[in-house]
This record gives sequence, structure tokens and C-alpha cells, in this order.
Amino acid sequence: MQPLHLSIVVCCLLALGHACQDSASVPTTAKDWWETAQFYQIYPRSFMDSDGDGIGDLNGITSKLEYLKELGVTAAWLSPIFKSPMVDFGYDISDFFDIQPEYGTLEDFRNLIRRANELDLKIILDFVPNHSSNENEWFKKSVRREKGYADYYVWHDGKVNAATGEREPPTNWLQYFRGSAWEWNEQRQQYYLHQFAVQQPDLNYRNPDVVAQMKRVLRYWLNEGVAGFRCDALPPLFEVLPDGQGQYPDEVVSGATEDAEDRDYLTTTYIENQPETVDMVYQWREVLDDHRRIHGGNSSVLLIETYSPAWFTMQFYGNRTVNGAHLPFNFNLITVMEKSGLSAANVQQAIDLWLQNMPAGRTANWVLGNHDKRRAASRYGLEHIDGMNMLVMILPGASVTYQGEELGMTDGQISWEDTVDPWGCNSNADIYEQYTRDPERTPFQWTSGSNAGFSMGPTTWLPLADDYQTVNVETESAANHSHLTIYKSLIALRRSSKTLQNGSTKYAVLNDDVFVLKRSLSGAASIVYVCNFGSAAVTVDLTEFDKSLGKDTLRLLVRSLDSAKSEG
Ligand code: GLC
Ligand code: MG
Repeated sequence: MQPLHLSIVVCCLLALGHACQDSASVPTTAKDWWETAQFYQIYPRSFMDSDGDGIGDLNGITSKLEYLKELGVTAAWLSPIFKSPMVDFGYDISDFFDIQPEYGTLEDFRNLIRRANELDLKIILDFVPNHSSNENEWFKKSVRREKGYADYYVWHDGKVNAATGEREPPTNWLQYFRGSAWEWNEQRQQYYLHQFAVQQPDLNYRNPDVVAQMKRVLRYWLNEGVAGFRCDALPPLFEVLPDGQGQYPDEVVSGATEDAEDRDYLTTTYIENQPETVDMVYQWREVLDDHRRIHGGNSSVLLIETYSPAWFTMQFYGNRTVNGAHLPFNFNLITVMEKSGLSAANVQQAIDLWLQNMPAGRTANWVLGNHDKRRAASRYGLEHIDGMNMLVMILPGASVTYQGEELGMTDGQISWEDTVDPWGCNSNADIYEQYTRDPERTPFQWTSGSNAGFSMGPTTWLPLADDYQTVNVETESAANHSHLTIYKSLIALRRSSKTLQNGSTKYAVLNDDVFVLKRSLSGAASIVYVCNFGSAAVTVDLTEFDKSLGKDTLRLLVRSLDSAKSEG
């Protein structure tokens, strides 16, 4: 067998063996739907506007479910659609049991679910357990110390400064969105804790009524036919218990930044990653499993948002005796690159970090972006978007696409004046770009026409990204080869390939810049991913990685847009 010398500029997928379609006789273990799912995150405010107010809505989503069907995704996760004053664009919920009027009605939601069922698409909702809006009835009642609600939130008298005699917050704790995590409430004459914005008071999970209430929220939406939840912001769910005098400990200076308003200025030992948080997730899993036992149907899933270190994150999966979340999000492909840049070695490191820490028998998952991170095509470079989309679909387990990643959408340019994200607004004109999440939330690009086909109205809630005339569904669908057509072939391959669903995984770095990944399953065609993360064309001998990769046996399946792969 001749060795294969492959010159690659960016990325390609190859099949090894005769058949690309695996033979039906290949023995495999049956997998539940979520274990090989392609999840798709919709940011409802920016997906599709049906009524011309410049804000995406539920009927807009329903009108585009066929697009998701054509993409081939398994399930769509909707960022919050519940009643909210929109301080944090839906992550500040004033009624967990109702729909935000500018997004539609409960009837519209039921219609969305009905249509999704017809198309065999699953819908997952965002569950925001850590906090509510300060406009939630629960909070108003808590402020008034109404019976049953007095301890719904984390209240504290604060401290009296011995030198000045003045009242001060109970601790130095910082919120995520810059500044103190404590806010004085005049009416109740106490401080309340808010790990996010002032308008997002933290619920008190040491109160069993709160625990029960939030389980009601889960059951309510399960009864409406959702296929599970993405659980928001888990690390700050619990804080450490106060001491015998009711005092909480201060965090110490971390040394990570000089900026004393930035959350990273202090450690988060007492306000994140507490063991009670893991147990709460196990309880929510029980709610889901019980619901299925009673009502039947497919399993519904828990996806967990945590940017915590592996020792904490992996506990969410459960242990030998109890099941936890189906998929705690794996953000390593985001966070490792944020720290050290995109390279073949760092891709390998990000993958190792998950696969080597994941408990046996659990399912991996791979995430490139979301509404909190700059768009993947901007972070990795547009030339790498196909390579990264390929990577997450070739790796074992589930993967998650943030709306627009399939098109190679890039960040919008948002001025300080147009900034609306609280994280940006809580900073200033000089530094807001470090914090604001508006650039990754600009409207989805459907066409090259007015408002990118997102809205018929005169304006949109955030300006469009500059590239919408070339980067959009209409233009990319019409092209023979585009980010979108590549993405669709990847999903099609993933759905049809037993090797990708069940095969073993082997990977390595070649010639410093090239990352190679092989999935193989006995009796079926292997699939090989080869990606050059360097800036110059390079020739690699794949037989150095795997002896079976000879020239005559390989067939090109998918190549990236810029790839000028040539065999020689
Ligand atoms: C999560 C969300 C983010 C939100 C925060 C507070 O991190 O993804 O958008 O601001 O939680 O709910
Ligand atoms: Mg609208």
C-alpha cells in the first residue's frame, strides 16, 4: 500500500474502506436520541421576527422550523422565552409559567411544539434556576416578608463598619456583570444577593419551598411537551453556609486582574461550585425520569451550563449510584482556545481534557459557541469555521451549534451608544468591548435583502452584522459549496454513519499544525478528519498516524470551503 501524502490548506474528511454508507448488518449498541444528537441553539430575540417589531418571536421560529429540518438537526434549544423585563434579555424572569408578550402567547408556543412534532424536531427550553427578575411576584412578596416568601431570596443585614459606623454589604462578593453582588433594599431594610445584575436576585436554594417551586417549573413545561432543558448558570446556585453568627466569609484577591469591579478580581471559592449544587441537578434528573415513568414518551434531557473546572463539571454526569445531567456542556473548545489560541496541539488538549476526565459510560459533547461568546467564525477565524464544524460532528457524542455557525456568521460591530447587554452597559465606553455580548446576538441572516430577511419592520433590536449580504441562508443555499452546504453534508453523514455514532476514536497531531482524527468501527468504513491549523499549506504522510491510511483506500467525503486538497 502506498503512503498517502496529503497537501491540505484547511480541512477535509476522508472515508477509509469501500462503502461510505455503512452496511446495515454492522452490529451496534442502540443509542438514545440525545447521545448522538445535533443540538441547535436558537436565540429567540434574534432568530426570526414575524410581526415587524424588529424583535424575533415564537411565530418567527415556527415559520423556520423547516429550515432546521433541512439542516438535519435533532433538537432546538430556545434561550428564555418567559415573561421578563429584559434587563438580561430573558435571563431575568418575572413569570416562569408564562411567555414574554413580545415573543407571543402560550398558544403560539403550543403551536410551535405541534409543528416541531410534525417535523420530528425536539424542543428544549432554557431553565434559569439561579435567580428571578426583581419584578417577579416572588421577589415582591419577599421584600414585603409575606408568609411563605420571606426567605425565598438570600437576604442579609450587612455589617456595620466599626470606624465609620456606616452600614456595609455583608461581604466583598462580586457579581458577574461588574460590581458588588449585594444590593440594599430600602423597603425591607436588608441587602439581597445577586450574582448577576441588580435586577436578578438570587433564589435561596436552602429554602425547601424554592426547591419545590422550581421543580414545578420543570414539570409545567414537560407537560407542554418539551424534550428537556438547558440549565442556566449552575456554578452560583448555592453559596457557602454562613457561620454561627450568620456571617459569610469574604473572598480573597485572586491576582487575575487589577480591575476591582471585575468578578475575576476575587476568588469564587464560597460563591461557586458547592456540593449542594450537584445534588440539586440529581434531583432535577429525578423529576425528568419520574415524568417519563408516569407519562411515557421519549427521554427528556438536561444540559448543564457550567464553566467550572473538570473536577466539578464531571460530577454533574452522576456517579455509580445516581444519574445526573445527560450532558454537562463541554466548553473546552471555547475556553482552551480563549486562553492559548487555536492550534492543533490546543485542539488535542481540549479533547483530552474532556475525554480523559469523563466518567465511564457517559456521553461526550462538543460546543463551539453560544450567545455569551464571540461568534465562532470571529474567534477561530472564518477560514476555520468549516474545520471546527467538522470536528464537533466527527468527535464521539452530541454536539451543539449556535445559530449562524452553520453559515459562518461573524460578530456584529456594535457601538457604545447601541450597546444594550448589561455586562457591556455596566462598564464604560473605553472597555465595553471586553464585556459586551451584543456582537454575537445580532439578527440571524436569512437573505441578502432588507434586514437580512429577519424582519419586515423599519429597525431591528440590534443592528445587523456587516457581512449579511454574502453570509446568509439564501446565498449559501444557492451556492454549490458553502459553509452551509458543508454543514448539511456533515449532519447527513453523522446521521447515516454507524462509525460516527458508535465507532472508536483515535487522534494525534502531525507536523505541529495538522490535527488528525479517525473514527472506526469493525465492518464499517472508517472516517478520517484531517485539519491544518497552521497558516501555510503542508504535506503530511497519514500512514505515520495510522498504517491503514494508504492512498488507494481513501475517498474524499467533505472538504472545507478554502481547502485546496490535492493528493500526491
Ligand atoms: C448564563 C446565560 C447568560 C446570562 C446568565 C445569567 O450564563 O447564558 O446569558 O446572562 O446566565 O442568567
Ligand atoms: Mg416580533
